[in-house]
Amino acid sequence: MDKILPSLLAGDFANLGRDIGRMEAAGADMFHLDVMDGQFVPNISYGLPVIEAISKVSNIPIDVHLMTLQPDQFIEELKRMGVAMVSFHVEATHHPHRLIQKIQQNGMKAGIALNPHSAVSELEYLLPDLDFVLIMTVNPGFGGQEFISQCVGKITELDGMRKAHNYQFDIEVDGGINDETAAICRDEGANLFVSGSHLFKAEDPAAAISRLRG
Ligand code: DX5
Ligand code: ZN
Repeated sequence: MDKILPSLLAGDFANLGRDIGRMEAAGADMFHLDVMDGQFVPNISYGLPVIEAISKVSNIPIDVHLMTLQPDQFIEELKRMGVAMVSFHVEATHHPHRLIQKIQQNGMKAGIALNPHSAVSELEYLLPDLDFVLIMTVNPGFGGQEFISQCVGKITELDGMRKAHNYQFDIEVDGGINDETAAICRDEGANLFVSGSHLFKAEDPAAAISRLRG
């Protein structure tokens, strides 16, 4: 099923509770929370204390996107906060399979994110175990960037592998997602749509969310 995930990175950090309520009222399915460490990506966003505060007021599930080195160190805490889905970057860990297992053993869905330069073939032997794959359609680290269209081919490729092997993973897209780019990604097989600046700039977020659903 298609889901729309507002990225709170585009929210007003001094008024997150208000923005959470607005996006829930507008029909958001889940919140997407971007954790950046200033090492794996050239920016710092927010960390565990802010995720915990958000988890206490959110009425919809939370998807955490770890853009950090050593992502394995956060898993138990995210479980304690009731997070539903966690993704980490294949470029950021030496033992992605072990980390998938750790996330799942902690009762959460496990996803791997691919930077624009990374090939789907990196995931070939992980796909049977993954709950979702996050295709980055911008370079991670900042909201408001332009969609990189070369990444679309990776969705097509993943969808083909999913069909060929009857795998069950979802395909999430993140970066520069608006009505037009969501439609392009949906046509290739994506079903989880992260949207930050586009949704938060919308005058009518409910209408914007329903347009993103296609
Ligand atoms: C970028 C983040 C995204 C970001 C998307 O590093 O992973 O989740 O918030 O923002 P937009 O939708 O503005 O490209
Ligand atoms: Zn993200």
